[in-house]
Amino acid sequence: MELNSLNEIANKMVEKGRGILAADESSPTCKKRFDLINVESNELNRNIYRDMLFTSEGMEEFISGVILFDETLRQSTLKDNIPFPDYLYSLGVVPGIKVDKGAHPLAGSNDEKVTDGLDGLNTRLKEYYELGARFAKWRSVITIGNSAPSSTCIGVNAHGLARYAALCQENGIVPIVEPEIIMDGDHSIEESFVVTEEVLYTTFYELYSQNVLLEGMILKPNMVLSGYDCPKQASVEEVAEMTVTVLKRCVPSAVPGIAFLSGGQSDEDATAHLNAMNQILGDNSPWNLTYSYGRALQAPSLKAWSGETNNIPEAQKAFLKRAKLNSLASKGEYNSSME
Ligand code: 13P
Repeated sequence: MELNSLNEIANKMVEKGRGILAADESSPTCKKRFDLINVESNELNRNIYRDMLFTSEGMEEFISGVILFDETLRQSTLKDNIPFPDYLYSLGVVPGIKVDKGAHPLAGSNDEKVTDGLDGLNTRLKEYYELGARFAKWRSVITIGNSAPSSTCIGVNAHGLARYAALCQENGIVPIVEPEIIMDGDHSIEESFVVTEEVLYTTFYELYSQNVLLEGMILKPNMVLSGYDCPKQASVEEVAEMTVTVLKRCVPSAVPGIAFLSGGQSDEDATAHLNAMNQILGDNSPWNLTYSYGRALQAPSLKAWSGETNNIPEAQKAFLKRAKLNSLASKGEYNSSME
């Protein structure tokens, strides 16, 4: 695959003022989300919910790409029965696909995880390309606490991310590389910083070792936060400063963009942090800094919907509001008074 076309897709995914909607919850994760609103998680309800998000009028102004789950990639809009990838493509939104098979216990470790999904991945990527996917996502999970993370856990997950990324690029698909450090726990923001630095550094070393084209990938990192149970919570400015510092140390400027995960932050925090980072970096940022949020884009909309057809217009409004505010944050133009 030509470097140019991968680079073109990657640039489109992180275009100024737009970001990525992570709507790739696996069926078990979708069930967890639907349980919160007492909606049964069956195939039809998942189709209705995704259709509601994707057909929100004007969402393409703020959304450059959507990460889909295998089931959703094969579903269609309810009104006109257009396959979701074709429908998104017609709006100028790049369809993507989650290809990892989840994080599973890492043998020989003390409760750490490694992400599965490399077996048969080459074949699956070819089918996903045929179905219209032009980017993919693979998430690894690193926890802090109980002497974790071990260097073994960091190493095997980085190796897996790089193997996945190289396979994607050979198949004409832009890899989103997502090494997520979980912010559950009582660790300080300084501990988050140290672990994020080691994980990103190791991940980029593996990407280099396995000949991944940096110009044809997107990084999806966590922000550097205080653990959610840490008694001392860092301010928005501290989070922004420390996250930008670690990114500058570890992420080569050849990478077109960085699209953050929200990782369980409140919707407003996720927006405020992104905004503060863009204000620090300004116009001379080496990368476009944007969002690839799941919960922080969807939570208010999911709640407003609650499985009722009559609620769809309100739910779409709630989704568009978060998308618009995050779009402003990706340009450093957000202010909390806009909430
Ligand atoms: P959150 O933004 O809810 O963390 O989800 C993003 C994602 O894609 C996790 O893999």
